[in-house]
Amino acid sequence: MDNFVYYAPTKFVFGRYTEKRIGELAKEFGGTRALVVYGGGSAVRSGAVGRAVRSLHAAGFDTFNLEGIQPNPADDRVREGIELVRMHDIDIIIAVGGGSVIDTAKAIALGALYDGDFWDFYCGKATPERALPVGVVLTIPAAGSEGSGNSVITLREVRNEDGEVVSGPVKLSLRTESVLRPKFAIMNPELTLTLPAWQTACGIVDMMAHIFERYFSNTPDCEVTDRVAEGLLKAIVCEGRRVMESPDDYQARANIMWAATLAHNGICGTGRREDWSSHFIEHEISAVYPDVAHGAGLAAVIPAWMEYVAAKNPGKVAQFAERVMDVVPAPGSVPVDIALEGIARLRSFFLNIGMPSDFAGLGVIDPDIPALVEALHMHKGESIGNYVPLTARDTKAIYMALM
Ligand code: NZQ
Ligand code: ZN
Repeated sequence: MDNFVYYAPTKFVFGRYTEKRIGELAKEFGGTRALVVYGGGSAVRSGAVGRAVRSLHAAGFDTFNLEGIQPNPADDRVREGIELVRMHDIDIIIAVGGGSVIDTAKAIALGALYDGDFWDFYCGKATPERALPVGVVLTIPAAGSEGSGNSVITLREVRNEDGEVVSGPVKLSLRTESVLRPKFAIMNPELTLTLPAWQTACGIVDMMAHIFERYFSNTPDCEVTDRVAEGLLKAIVCEGRRVMESPDDYQARANIMWAATLAHNGICGTGRREDWSSHFIEHEISAVYPDVAHGAGLAAVIPAWMEYVAAKNPGKVAQFAERVMDVVPAPGSVPVDIALEGIARLRSFFLNIGMPSDFAGLGVIDPDIPALVEALHMHKGESIGNYVPLTARDTKAIYMALM
């Protein structure tokens, strides 16, 4: 196990009716003016935005709105949010929604206190040191942004110093240890009862992916972190099946909601080197094809990635197969056989919950694979990942496996 620092200072308030407490929680950070950020309508229809705003008003806040944040959020709405913050002297940002809304709120919180362009943080030109406080009312268990220090934003057009467009969209993830962790996250599983099956399934895949990216590591002797990850994965498979069969089951929704947070708040990565290549491979797809939901993209990429790396380094994949997918090794079988059986079971779990397994299933006809590979390595370096480091030849083979 490697040395580590683990600091996750978000306060989680979990359970029924908890969104009514948002005013009281926001008040702890001083200030009187809140920017409420939300998506394309689900949080208005469910009443979550209305209840949050009423609670903020009751606690003495004036509120301002930034609505209509789209999935795979882009820079233009962040810039609009930063202007609103400056214009109205906002003290706190409240995100009511999922990863796209929360990540937009985080980018606004960071950019509003910075003299330059907020994108400087995402492309590595500036280091995040301070941000306005962000509070969350979570409506979809998936991205885990409510408990992570990360934010993922797409820059629609990359321009040179003369303002000319030099390349298409780029989706980059900014990781911070604590600057971008929400101060508090309200998690009422009832708010997730309106999720369509597709979005529920996308969330299940994404939370599993967040564990895989940390679990597939060559750092030895992380038994505790391994067992936490395996326990969570087993619970997600079990509760995932339950929630897909009984979408109105509050307890299944509650378990899935808490699992998504624990999958991505860093606990599953403690003491070891992480991987993240499946996410990098997927982000290129949903940057260029923004109608691809992040979780759906991962459902296609992950089994293909696992098969590719299992051929070179089967050990941990075989461990996953035995401990999570309940593969019982046949006498005389070698790790790669066990690994492949585990991957087959994972793929069939994804298919059973309605997830796609290739580009066609993602609605991407005739993808430009050389362009995806080029952009991936331009953004993330010549070699990506750690469990098996992947160069352009390898990532091309993984994209090709989705044809
Ligand atoms: O826009 P509305 O109408 O709200 O609809 C949303 C949206 O269409 C809908 N939805 C959310 N809650 C709902 C609901 N529909 C009915 N009932 C509800 N209760 O779900 C759709 C997807 O929302 P989105 O916020 O995009 O989903 P998700 O949480 O999966 O976030 C995806 C984004 O997060 C990034 C992804 O790349 C993607 O951009 N990620 C962020 C991470 C982080 N910050 O740590 C890590 C992840 O790996 C991920 O990359
Ligand atoms: Zn993800």
